[in-house]
Amino acid sequence: MLDRFYRCIAKPMLFRLDAEAVHHMILTILAHTPSMAPWPDPPALNLSLWGIEFSNPIGLAAGMDKDAVAVHAWHSLGFGFAELGTVTPRPQPGNSGPRLFRLPDGGALINRLGFPGAGMDAFGARLERLRRGRIPIRLGINLGPNKDTAPGAVVEDYAALMNRLGAYADFIVINVSSPNTPGLRNWQSPERMREIYAAITGGQTTTRPPILIKLAPDLESAELLKICDTATELGFNGIVATNTTLRRKELRVKSDYEGGLSGRPLLELARGIIADIYRHTGGRIPIVGVGGIASAEDAYGHIRAGASIVELYTGLIYEGPGLVAAIKAGLAGLLRRDGFGSISQAIGSAVRT
Ligand SMILES: Cc1cc2nc3c(=O)[nH]c(=O)nc-3n(C[C@H](O)[C@H](O)[C@H](O)COP(=O)(O)O)c2cc1C
Repeated sequence: MLDRFYRCIAKPMLFRLDAEAVHHMILTILAHTPSMAPWPDPPALNLSLWGIEFSNPIGLAAGMDKDAVAVHAWHSLGFGFAELGTVTPRPQPGNSGPRLFRLPDGGALINRLGFPGAGMDAFGARLERLRRGRIPIRLGINLGPNKDTAPGAVVEDYAALMNRLGAYADFIVINVSSPNTPGLRNWQSPERMREIYAAITGGQTTTRPPILIKLAPDLESAELLKICDTATELGFNGIVATNTTLRRKELRVKSDYEGGLSGRPLLELARGIIADIYRHTGGRIPIVGVGGIASAEDAYGHIRAGASIVELYTGLIYEGPGLVAAIKAGLAGLLRRDGFGSISQAIGSAVRT
């Protein structure tokens, strides 16, 4: 019902308007909508990861709620968790517009937003207010440096973010893979990961939330696997795979817009990377699978390739707010069909020999 309303009425109207204007409008509506308890999740979708209970493995990907303005809405829509951010230490406007584009025939988006946001103090104050009530959903917080931070001070940006916001997070994601902040992807190297890890943990290993690193889908295979080895060796608690891609031709996408491509064309690329990481690490480091998910089959495919939990962004724009409930219902059916009693049993089942 909600699906049909979105597809037949809301989406055709919204898709005539500027994509970023619609984003802000919807976020404002969600932020002011009273929260509603979603239907309880089927027990087969519950899972425990890093000692944290997730009622279902479907999460909101980073970028949708950069300033933590609509936390309750993500719970109402049925998500099991939301990755907020990317948040930067200081407020910044992001890149000049237009900077968000739809490719409707491909079920894709291209963005070059460049982390616009109100900064970590506004973000922290909002979470503080929420904590006084009860936050009904697991929260990841995705951290990134300011655009005008000198390369030599990027590590300090991550450390400052961790100090200010670490206490509010169920898990932290170190974003070194957005293509729209110059030089950021260079931090995807073993040496630089070491620097970041030392700075954000400050030698602390116990009283901190799990720390994940989010990778680009554009790394060479050998480089990717080296980075995964370093992440495991350093003590990172997980890998988010993947961010948006700069590839076009290989994915048969015809578009001249600059920026990161997300949505349907990314599905197989992200899944291949998830499977490579899972195979290489023998499942020792949890993977958060993201890229192109727009159905229960898509989510299930990422989980069977090795993802413990999954996230989506672009699929929500194309399929609408009923998508999360539809994915959860479909996923429960797919688990039953394949004889899995729980999500945990399905993780990596397409890759394990
Ligand atoms: C408009 C837009 C903004 C995004 N902003 C961020 C961001 O701030 N930080 C980040 O780590 N990823 C960001 N992403 C990437 C998503 O989190 C996700 O990794 C990517 O879009 C692939 O998932 P999808 O195909 O389900 O959209 C953004 C994606 C989109 C479409």
